Amino acid sequence: MAQASYRDALGAHARRLTGSSIQALNCLEAGRAQQLALRVGPLYANFARQSYDQAALSALLAYGHSLGLPLAFRQLFDGDKVNQTEARPALHTALRCDLGQGEVAASARAQVLAAEQQLAAIVAELEASSVTDVVSIGIGGSDLGPRLVCDALRPLQGARFRVHFVSNIDGMAIERVLAGLDPARTAGILISKSFSTQETLFNGAILQRWLGEGARLYAVSADVQRPQQQFGIAPERVLPMWDWVGGRYSLWSAVGLPIALALGMEAWQQLHDGAALMDAHVLQAPLEHNLPMLHGLTEIWNRNACGHASHAVMCYDARLALLPAYLQQLVMESLGKQVGVDGQPVWGDTVPVWWGGAGTDVQHSFFQALHQGTQVICGEFIGCIAGDDPHTASHQALLANLLAQTESLSNGRPSDDLPRNYPGGRPTTTVLLDALTPQALGALIAFYEHSVYVQSLAWGINAFDQFGVELGKQVASALLPAVRDPAVVVEDPVTRELLAQLHR
Ligand code: F6P
Repeated sequence: MAQASYRDALGAHARRLTGSSIQALNCLEAGRAQQLALRVGPLYANFARQSYDQAALSALLAYGHSLGLPLAFRQLFDGDKVNQTEARPALHTALRCDLGQGEVAASARAQVLAAEQQLAAIVAELEASSVTDVVSIGIGGSDLGPRLVCDALRPLQGARFRVHFVSNIDGMAIERVLAGLDPARTAGILISKSFSTQETLFNGAILQRWLGEGARLYAVSADVQRPQQQFGIAPERVLPMWDWVGGRYSLWSAVGLPIALALGMEAWQQLHDGAALMDAHVLQAPLEHNLPMLHGLTEIWNRNACGHASHAVMCYDARLALLPAYLQQLVMESLGKQVGVDGQPVWGDTVPVWWGGAGTDVQHSFFQALHQGTQVICGEFIGCIAGDDPHTASHQALLANLLAQTESLSNGRPSDDLPRNYPGGRPTTTVLLDALTPQALGALIAFYEHSVYVQSLAWGINAFDQFGVELGKQVASALLPAVRDPAVVVEDPVTRELLAQLHR
């Protein structure tokens, strides 16, 4: 059967289920709450509050089978050129597991292990120094992953270093970080796969000037020459990455140096072990029990069969507050495409808007729209079963709120007072980590990476390029002379007017 026919079948199921209640599904389908739950190590996910019934789910899984997912994952892990437009592998899995087969994966793995030794030596060197603070400079994939992991797992006390992040080209961002620091006790890391990113070069230059003579600077880049050419960083202080790792998949590489410094090498290893656990699962579990595959297909169900264009991630653990920002890049930079690998327009709508925040804060900001807005917003709720703080009552209340919100969004509550009606029917997935350990966080991030790959296969797009961000960069470079000099005239009339305001 052609894939379009599977998709038509999904559409028919969605139409059949229009107006039926998720709550009713959970009453009618005995055992659904358990059957639609999967566990991989410390990560549990429950899909019972999605809007598909058994028949629709069977159609979704049949569609999944038609996509040839096991072969596609084998190709990913083995280093086939799955980044077709740039003719490269996307071997982020080689950064944390040994499951790739063949020469390409083996060679990547050897490079990874050598880089890891170099990274461990730099960590040891800094640990033995008088450095107390580390400033990490990078943006996008060279910032969001390390920033998330460091923020999520940083201990309350006893950390060897304070690690700070600067990404934005706004000079105030770096000023705020440097304001409280002592150059004599601070080391800097410049992280950039290309080493040509404007923000990182500007901030790197500011940091180097601030550090002064004998600046303790390190770099991570796929271009090992440029850090030396542009900042005089000695080759032994430059850690490699490779063109076969996408920026938004790179926290497992030396890009994660801030993680190793903030948390230590043991936690670094556990983070990788958690991801490796998810890697083994996605390769080995049958589709019906494969967590990233079911998640990715559920995204397709919501986006294409049901037409939902918005996806909110609610983290019921304040330590995961940066996860939505991380996922925005991972998901939207990977899947925000309109052309398939065959150069043709994609058959349907691609990525919804991903956004979110930390519960319970967001209950008092945007949840009104989730409950009663005219648009159905899909939700993902993430919580940790065990809390790590001494305030047990607070943790219990936090989890009660998580449960209450998913139940209310799904089931709603009828009211005689119609304007106050809670319609329910908002689909959500609940993800629970046993505890927020490095291993669990590694598994969680790898879970999303693999779900993204599944979605890219369904849409027939390349998840590993990002040509769409280039235009803005080019126009910004072209406009910089006009911002600096009022005499420079630009063509676009609106930009011209705005420049006139800047130069008033
Ligand atoms: O925003 C585009 C992008 O290329 C991202 O994909 C990447 O993570 C980010 O810029 C930073 O790039 P680099 O690591 O080369 O500085």
